Amino acid sequence: MSKSTAIPRHIAIVMDGNGRWASKRFLPRLGGHKKGVDALRKCVSHAMFRGVRVLTLFAFSSENWNRPAEEVSGLMHLLAVVLAREVPSLHAEGVRLHFVGERKGLSGKVQAGFDEAEVLTANNRNLILNICFNYGGRWDIVQAASSLAAKGEPITESSLHAAMGMAHVSDPDLIIRTGGEYRISNFLLWQAAYAELYFTPALWPDFSSTELDQAMADYARRERRFGKTSEQLKSLSGSQVSV
Ligand code: FPP
Repeated sequence: MSKSTAIPRHIAIVMDGNGRWASKRFLPRLGGHKKGVDALRKCVSHAMFRGVRVLTLFAFSSENWNRPAEEVSGLMHLLAVVLAREVPSLHAEGVRLHFVGERKGLSGKVQAGFDEAEVLTANNRNLILNICFNYGGRWDIVQAASSLAAKGEPITESSLHAAMGMAHVSDPDLIIRTGGEYRISNFLLWQAAYAELYFTPALWPDFSSTELDQAMADYARRERRFGKTSEQLKSLSGSQVSV
């Protein structure tokens, strides 16, 4: 296959720009995060509608603890509100939730909320929604390597992959970053190896269904070679295709 005509199976998103969205409106930064939750909710429904199987969202990074204390506590409070409000409706839509990241350091209430949401939605099959929270790509590589080392197991590509927080899903096909920055910011460092990257200036609260469709249309025009040549892919098309 020379072009990625298929819908990406797994989309991952760096939801950047909440703060700037709020500043433009003379609102506190938390106002941007609240609007960001609305965008997140619409994005989940639209991705599912388009046939995406896995959606991974970067909600709070290992480095976000360095933000002003007021913003960090505001985000933690927002998280509790969002869990209570959105988990039942996500469950009703057949979404399976996973929280990926370091649980240690989060409040008991948040940890219990994550556990309950994962148990409640464990049999849902319409979409896997990974929320990366207190997550960093470097943290995940280190914790996976440490757990293998502690068991005396050899570190290989497959053993490391299996010990990582994202072991339950295939690698992302498409990584979107909103907010106009061109960087990966410690997101899915291991899993991004062959992802197609898409950057948009849209601030996350403005990221609409149309924006998601545009990113997917752009993805559909990409040639995914996985180390092969374009000619090899062309000769393979029509026969067996492995991507
Ligand atoms: C980046 O925008 C966004 C975040 C650090 C948080 C993303 C969170 C949400 C979309 C809400 C859902 C999450 C929770 C915790 C309920 P930024 O603040 O860095 O924006 P800026 O670059 O414009 O300052």
